[in-house]
Amino acid sequence: MTKNHFRLAHLSDLHFSEMGLDIQQFFSKRWIGNLNYLLRRKKDFDHEILESIPSLLKEQGVQLVLLSGDLSCTSSKAEFSKASAFIEKLKSAGLEVVILPGNHDHYTKKAYREKLFYEFFPSKYGTQKWNLKEHGVALKHLADKWWLVLLDTTLATPLLCSHGRFSESIERHLKEALSELPEGSQVVLANHFPITCKKLRPALQGRKALFDILKAYPQIRFYLHGHNHNHTILDMREEGLPVTVDSGSATLKNAGSFTLMECGENACSFQPFVWNMKTRDWTPAPKKTSFTWV
Ligand SMILES: [Fe+2]
Ligand SMILES: [Fe+2]
Repeated sequence: MTKNHFRLAHLSDLHFSEMGLDIQQFFSKRWIGNLNYLLRRKKDFDHEILESIPSLLKEQGVQLVLLSGDLSCTSSKAEFSKASAFIEKLKSAGLEVVILPGNHDHYTKKAYREKLFYEFFPSKYGTQKWNLKEHGVALKHLADKWWLVLLDTTLATPLLCSHGRFSESIERHLKEALSELPEGSQVVLANHFPITCKKLRPALQGRKALFDILKAYPQIRFYLHGHNHNHTILDMREEGLPVTVDSGSATLKNAGSFTLMECGENACSFQPFVWNMKTRDWTPAPKKTSFTWV
């Protein structure tokens, strides 16, 4: 193994839930989240399927786990505590964990205003000056030339909205952070929201400015995200954009998935793992996708 090598597991959209009976929820968006949980998420998600994940990732030689948002359903303290307990299990297995928030982690105006997420999870990694809470940007050194750049593009959205925003201040900070990286750096950019747009309204507002950065910085090789709950790998290099990878949701009962990413000097591979409901086991998907460059 060279020193410019890393193995990362990308999990997303765990959606830990805890139905509260607190009357206060009816004065915030939380009651919508809890209603959604009762009608849909309760039957769609199974958190027991995470039990074997720490030992499986360790067996697979993973060094770092990226959780790309939506750890909770309604950003309540009880839900964040459940997510923290899972993260502790990963750490106890000897895995490093980096976390960024999704729209469900800043679900209510109060949770967003108070940045409750960051009372439970770190805002920065390593000694770099950038932190998610203040700048919407954080850096994590992965290996020799490889850097992981994390974004927090969440917002407190109105009742039936779930979008994020790549704001002017995040744009400024991201450009500055990228310009400070050592020459020859290769970058994996991670954010909760996809940059592609399947619906009429994009999940990420301000994505044009992000596109401009992605096109101007070809060293951003990969864009990892969640939010869609659908494992997808899109090669957008012909459009001057990076390869984008959605890990899917790792707790979906019928379609649980995560990605094992391995990178070296000039190549990366993505091995999806899928949850098999019948055998109640995680299995590698038949197709592993690899990318090389010169
Ligand atoms: Fe989600
Ligand atoms: Fe989301």
